[in-house]
Amino acid sequence: MIIWIHGFPLSSLVFAKQRTIEGFAPDLPGFGSAPAPQRDSTMDDYARAILRTMDEKKIARAVFAGLSMGGYIAFALARLAPRRVSGLILIDTRETPDDAAGKKGRYETIGKVKEKGVSVVVDAMLPKMLTPSAAPGLVSEAREIMMASSPAGVLAALKAIAERPDSTETLRTMTVPVLVVVGDSDTITPPADAQRMAKLARNATLVTIRGAAHLSNLEQPEQFNKAVESFLTRHDL
Ligand code: MLT
Repeated sequence: MIIWIHGFPLSSLVFAKQRTIEGFAPDLPGFGSAPAPQRDSTMDDYARAILRTMDEKKIARAVFAGLSMGGYIAFALARLAPRRVSGLILIDTRETPDDAAGKKGRYETIGKVKEKGVSVVVDAMLPKMLTPSAAPGLVSEAREIMMASSPAGVLAALKAIAERPDSTETLRTMTVPVLVVVGDSDTITPPADAQRMAKLARNATLVTIRGAAHLSNLEQPEQFNKAVESFLTRHDL
């Protein structure tokens, strides 16, 4: 059983092409169909929301597959509830926190979103989500998913991303199997991040997806799903 954790500013729909793999994809607070959070959020808050959903659905343990911000949340889950983690799939993400310039940029974006709305973030990020050769239909699909994010959800997530902790030690001390997946043309979390994460973890496999940018699971689902299925089989997950 995989729990798919979406990135920013996306929703569970970003995993539509992974529905053939047994799993469950929740919408994080303020994204997709989930109500917006009432206050500032942290990665731990998102992780707790997922743990509550697992309790409701009586899911004891799962492989957590986190895409970008979803990866930051997967690390939070590993710290909060290590016994509920049977494996990790880190998709186009990184274990390091924002540096000072990165953090400053997040707070500037918060100001712009308050003034102009969610489209500020969507316009800035959409060109980096897929490669320039992605089909126009796929670009519209990604845009639609992003535009459905609520302003309150986007603002809370930007703050949570800016304040996220360093997850280096979490990854270094991880004993469960880890799959690291990255698009070869990802410029948001480039292949160098994935290579570093795969070296840090004790039991990791690195797969680079050809012809994909940040949303490697959406842009190249065949390659992506094959990598996930073979990871699950190899580790009997
Ligand atoms: C994401 O896709 O979740 C974001 O790119 C994460 C980030 O900006 O750090």
